[in-house]
Amino acid sequence: MKKTYLSILILITFTLYNCSKDTGPVDDNQATENISFANDVQPIFDQNCISCHPSSGNLDLTTAHSYSQLVNVNASGYSAKRVVPGDAENSVLYKKIDGSGTYGSNMPLGGNLSAAQINTIKQWIIEGAQNN
Ligand code: HEC
Repeated sequence: MKKTYLSILILITFTLYNCSKDTGPVDDNQATENISFANDVQPIFDQNCISCHPSSGNLDLTTAHSYSQLVNVNASGYSAKRVVPGDAENSVLYKKIDGSGTYGSNMPLGGNLSAAQINTIKQWIIEGAQNN
């Protein structure tokens, strides 16, 4: 009788443990999700990029054109895509701002973005580079 009681208790404990384990990662993702292209990414372009990028590198980063010139579009100076949704490491846009020098000069040319700005752009790409 005592053994049965103990077994049930162990079963309940494991069930509860597994449930909380399943929901854990979902909550973690929610905390870092929801980067908005319009509200979070475009302002970085407006402040740091558009002085040169209505045209430099055949890239227009002004509000009306930036999204359609980035996502799944081949870079003009490099044989890679500007933005591969979900894959920052293979996106020219990210490798141009991360200080790696993978694709020539770091952007913005002659300056740097803050770590927070770099992370915002990276996170936006990882979340699927949505037009949100
Ligand atoms: C002072 C001018 C200047 C500023 C400011 C600037 N860029 Fe550039 N950018 C250039 C030039 C010139 C090129 C072409 C040469 C090269 O690829 O490095 C270029 C190229 C690029 C490319 C490659 C385009 C392609 O398809 O080959 C990307 C991506 C880019 N810039 C992103 C940015 C971003 C993002 C910012 C703002 C954070 C920025 N740039 C700010 C001058 C600038």
